[in-house]
Amino acid sequence: MPPTIDLRSDTVTLPSPAMRAAMANAPLGDDVYGEDPTVNRLEQLAAETVGKPAALFVPSGTMGNLLAVLAHCGRGDEAIVGDESHILHYEAGGPSVLGGVALGTVPTELNGELPLHALAAALRDPEDSHEPISRLICLENSHNRCGGVVLRPAYTAEIGAFARTRGLATHLDGARLFNAAVALGLPAAALTADLDSVMFCLSKGLAAPVGSILAGEAAFIKRARRLRKLLGGGMRQAGVLAAAGIIALEHMVARLAEDHTNAMLLAKGLYTIPGIALDLASVQTDIVIFTLETSRWTPAALTHALAERGLLIGEIGRGRLRAVTHYGIEAADVERAVAIVREVVRT
Ligand SMILES: Cc1ncc(COP(=O)(O)O)c(C=O)c1O
Repeated sequence: MPPTIDLRSDTVTLPSPAMRAAMANAPLGDDVYGEDPTVNRLEQLAAETVGKPAALFVPSGTMGNLLAVLAHCGRGDEAIVGDESHILHYEAGGPSVLGGVALGTVPTELNGELPLHALAAALRDPEDSHEPISRLICLENSHNRCGGVVLRPAYTAEIGAFARTRGLATHLDGARLFNAAVALGLPAAALTADLDSVMFCLSKGLAAPVGSILAGEAAFIKRARRLRKLLGGGMRQAGVLAAAGIIALEHMVARLAEDHTNAMLLAKGLYTIPGIALDLASVQTDIVIFTLETSRWTPAALTHALAERGLLIGEIGRGRLRAVTHYGIEAADVERAVAIVREVVRT
């Protein structure tokens, strides 16, 4: 039996040989004392890469987003997020549970945008004692549940300008920021310039084993560092992990284009299979979302049958299935994946 093709997520990536070597040889210190030279180097490199004055290495994207919301908002404040956002669906309600921050939602367009008129309508009256205080707008780029679509800098600039005139802060869930940057052919900093803070993951398509970055103004990162300690996220000789993060930023960004090419190959293959529906225009990065137009298969039954043939994909609710290409997946794997789906859907 050939090896399993795992397209459930780009989080399944394993570290590259260069990462493993860098991890073994990294100079280390106690990062809670600010003395790990490898973490310090990663944080500086990350801040420069996204064009922010300061950055913080955190264990996960979820913690990075949580720290951002808690560092921007206080108890009784409201963060406005899209109704398809990762922060809303997959982060265990952290801002509300741990920070007393309400999450208010606005509808998400198919292109991942939150419409300006909906944001304007969602703002609270600060004089009305019934309402929470609007404090923060969160965007997501690339947008996971919208199929990895990318937000353009012109849109981000518009939201940034709107937020500034209304006295709101802005945060970007950029778990896959570099996928968006590569897809647009722009430096990552162009996608973050108009927003106050950004979280991005080193552990997805960039293939580091663990870790994300939160970046923003120095005072904001100082608050986030304190909150990271509060949550138990202060790590000691974390340079072992940061070493892989440095390789991720220096050597793994450009190759994301291969994942995007493979995602399009996958999408075009699936598109030709009777019983599968997908929107090719939504395939802009490494994510392919599709639905079933046949009563013979439920999403659960299909994922189960595919797994038995050595192909893993994910279910993301409302009848949608998700496949993600990544480091370790080659064009030949994609061709085999399409052949497996074709064979199974036909049975
Ligand atoms: C858009 C988005 N934001 C945040 C996260 C959270 O990252 P982590 O799994 O490292 O907590 C993910 C993870 O899949 C994600 O897709």
